[in-house]
Amino acid sequence: MQFIDLKTQQAAIKEELDRRIAVVLAHGQYIMGPEVAELEQTLAADVGVKHCVSVASGTEALLISLMALGVGPGDEVITTPYTFVATVEVIALLGAKPVFADIDPRTANIDVAAIEAKITPHTKAIMPVSLYGQAADMDEVNAVAARHGGIPVIEDAAQSFGAIYRGRKSCALSTIGCTSFFPSKPLGCYGDGGALFTNDDTIATACREIRVHGQSKRYVHTRVGVGGRMDTLQCAVVLAKWPRFAWECETRGKIGARYTRRIHEQVRGARAVEAADAGAEIDAIRTLNLGPERTSVYAQYTILVPDREAMQARLKSAGIPTAVHYPVPLNQQPAYEHLCCADCTPVSAWMARHVMSLPMGPDLSESDMDKVIAALSQS
Ligand SMILES: Cc1ncc(COP(=O)(O)O)c(C=O)c1O
Repeated sequence: MQFIDLKTQQAAIKEELDRRIAVVLAHGQYIMGPEVAELEQTLAADVGVKHCVSVASGTEALLISLMALGVGPGDEVITTPYTFVATVEVIALLGAKPVFADIDPRTANIDVAAIEAKITPHTKAIMPVSLYGQAADMDEVNAVAARHGGIPVIEDAAQSFGAIYRGRKSCALSTIGCTSFFPSKPLGCYGDGGALFTNDDTIATACREIRVHGQSKRYVHTRVGVGGRMDTLQCAVVLAKWPRFAWECETRGKIGARYTRRIHEQVRGARAVEAADAGAEIDAIRTLNLGPERTSVYAQYTILVPDREAMQARLKSAGIPTAVHYPVPLNQQPAYEHLCCADCTPVSAWMARHVMSLPMGPDLSESDMDKVIAALSQS
């Protein structure tokens, strides 16, 4: 069994993939070819925002967004320590200070009440992460931002492209939404890629310029930029995957829901995490909750287990790969530990001790899920 099965998907789209790649090889516009604009128009229409700007990676999407907002030395950006390092790295790279707000134990997403407590006159942006494929509490985050003078909100939606939140799509939920097309993401290419989404014309123009070395016209560099374009070939790969994507999102949602139902039914003592569990020893598997009116794309299907090492060993011996997203919160990493003590975000520290991700994807078979559930239920 594979942790993520990309081969079945590739076989299903082979004809369209070959055709799309052949078109790019024939026209030869490897940088900013016609597939770049086609992808941007397709995704903007689907997400329901005015602008989509494709970029070299999810990291680059976050960096360019912060640059477009003018984030720099002396500024603070509030985010979660319980995320992939890129979220925080881009803030530090610009000389600004990442400010950590703890997470809600029920969802592993940022705790909105904790955000409000961290706002200062230096807060330049708030960056919630829609972790594991489920949108953060974006309406509540936006409301806090609005109450404090309209602080811009960037959704790090690297894991949640395709997720639905109160009838709207992830990436369309705040000032800017950033996603990643890293191969293992719900909408992955065959290399690095990413995109940012916004309804704001000024931000979109700034991002388009920053993506190409701050260039407003050929050899006119109006601002500091980066080399941050997404390759035409990678855009063609995403376009080849696009016709199957709606089915994949729906299927991911069903598989995730089936995992949760079967764990609750078949694993002794299993139940959803409750707020009171945070910090306590857990004696059996806990599943994460879907907040109300949300559909996750389950970039990962992640549970909490009492003894992770033992559980991973047990699943490994049954031929089941697992992963840990993430074993160490970023405020306990050497590069960032000076910013905030581990005790200041106890829920993140607790979550990191217990999480374990199971094989997941739209092509996960019923028999593979049977094996996972059987291995989880042995005690
Ligand atoms: C939450 C989060 N943010 C940012 C990124 C960075 O995306 P990329 O790998 O495309 O640079 C990732 C990728 O793993 C991620 O999971």
